[in-house]
Amino acid sequence: MSVGGAEAVPTARTTPAPQPAGRRGDAYPEATPTMQPSRYALALRRGWRLLVAGSLLGVLAGLAFTARTAPTYRASTSVFFAPARGDTVSELTQGSTYTQNLMQSFAKVTTQPEVLNPVIQKIGLQTTPRQLAMHITADAPLNTVVLTISVTSSGAQQAADIANAVGVQLQATVQQLTPSGTGGVRPINVTTVATAQVPQTPTGPSPLRNALYGLIAGLAVGVLAALARHLLDDRVRNREQAEALTGLSVLTTVAYEPGRRRSPRNQTVQDAFRRLRTNFATGLNRPAGSGTSVVVTSSIRGEGRSTTAVQLARALAESGSTVLLVDADLRRPRLAAMLSLPEQPGLHDVLVGGTTLGAAALAVPHSSLRLLSAGRAADDPGAALASPAMRALLAEAARNYDAVVLDTPPVLEAADSLVLGQHADALLVVVDASRLRARDLTACLHQARLAALPIAGVVLNKDRAAPRSAKPPRRKRPRVAAPRALGFSLKPGLSDHAL
Ligand SMILES: Nc1ncnc2c1ncn2[C@@H]1O[C@H](COP(=O)(O)OP(=O)(O)O)[C@@H](O)[C@H]1O
Ligand SMILES: [Mg+2]
Repeated sequence: MSVGGAEAVPTARTTPAPQPAGRRGDAYPEATPTMQPSRYALALRRGWRLLVAGSLLGVLAGLAFTARTAPTYRASTSVFFAPARGDTVSELTQGSTYTQNLMQSFAKVTTQPEVLNPVIQKIGLQTTPRQLAMHITADAPLNTVVLTISVTSSGAQQAADIANAVGVQLQATVQQLTPSGTGGVRPINVTTVATAQVPQTPTGPSPLRNALYGLIAGLAVGVLAALARHLLDDRVRNREQAEALTGLSVLTTVAYEPGRRRSPRNQTVQDAFRRLRTNFATGLNRPAGSGTSVVVTSSIRGEGRSTTAVQLARALAESGSTVLLVDADLRRPRLAAMLSLPEQPGLHDVLVGGTTLGAAALAVPHSSLRLLSAGRAADDPGAALASPAMRALLAEAARNYDAVVLDTPPVLEAADSLVLGQHADALLVVVDASRLRARDLTACLHQARLAALPIAGVVLNKDRAAPRSAKPPRRKRPRVAAPRALGFSLKPGLSDHAL
């Protein structure tokens, strides 16, 4: 199985303080909706499809806008303003300064009705001076006496006609506006120095520019959508959220690994479950050698209970303990298939008296692990698991094995794990970090706490943020915590070695 919790499990935590398990009416904190900076990066990484889709749609929208927009043409004319008189250098300088001072005003006048009304009439345009002004720019660079008038229009010829008409009309208007000197001489001569030519190629729209604008807008929408999805998503995605929500310790984190990498020989997988064994055993605190039973459960189906039960049992057996793995999920048994052992005889056969525990528990090759598979199908699995025969079986298993690991149905589907938990030493809650909703986990723990079960902690499975087996983490020595820091406290003394 590939599982690969990389980071060491903090076995001693300060905030939030874990609650002793199984207390009635425990109030556990809600998950905090805040996002740390690294979570933003993670949210964007997870939402990369939204980012790509937003960018592509933006580019397509930009190109579609370009295709639907009519081409525009731009034509320009240049008008030169010169002092009309100047016999001496001093007069010429004064005249030139006077003209330069007026250039910005002439530029403003160019787009006024005084100039544009006659142009509209002359060319026969169906527009108003105000609308026409929006297509005209008049640019007079500082310290020059040249005004460049540019006109944008959907017709190339029309752009040139309007530009030339505005230039001509501006000359007349400027002559009217400037006061005449002695003898009725106008102080400024206005001359067109470059008439507008009919443009051959359109100036807009620019597909590249529109595509770029579309890309930026689409990417921004994608980023917002990814962050919004992350904030609105109430899945229990990481250790911090799981611990804040449950008030329990995450005993190990198991990375999300695709099928092939989840091989039982995978070193990272084994490390993750050895860490679980260590943290679990440290918290157990039971006399060495006595049978310790742990119920592996979860809120909903498919979170990895069977996977966890098998891997925990293997890790316990690896340390030399005799371990019995029981498939107590009579509704959907899976362990026999997972370990390639026969389904019958099994648990239900023992419960109905068809066989004994000793005969039904099959040795798993190359380990001190035995499997009691589910056995023949039960009509009423709940009743079978709640029967006195089941209690007797658990007691016998505890006498004969160092550890008993029970795979059970999810809490929100059946009460089986809660019933079995009453007779077990600890309850492990598997949390699927890829899809479990906070409200489901809260409901599951609420039920476990109502039943006053000894909840050992959480196994965070399928954590996409955890380092995977391709990059094994540096080995860290597991820290040993005070049993209470693990959030549960049972009978005194079982160490990792004892298990
Ligand atoms: N860490 C993991 N990464 C990827 N897939 C996983 C992981 N753990 C379990 N799975 C897969 O999830 C599915 C459900 O796992 P299983 O242990 O049968 O869950 P449960 O017993 O809770 O229904 C299986 O296909 C299993 O291979
Ligand atoms: Mg299962």
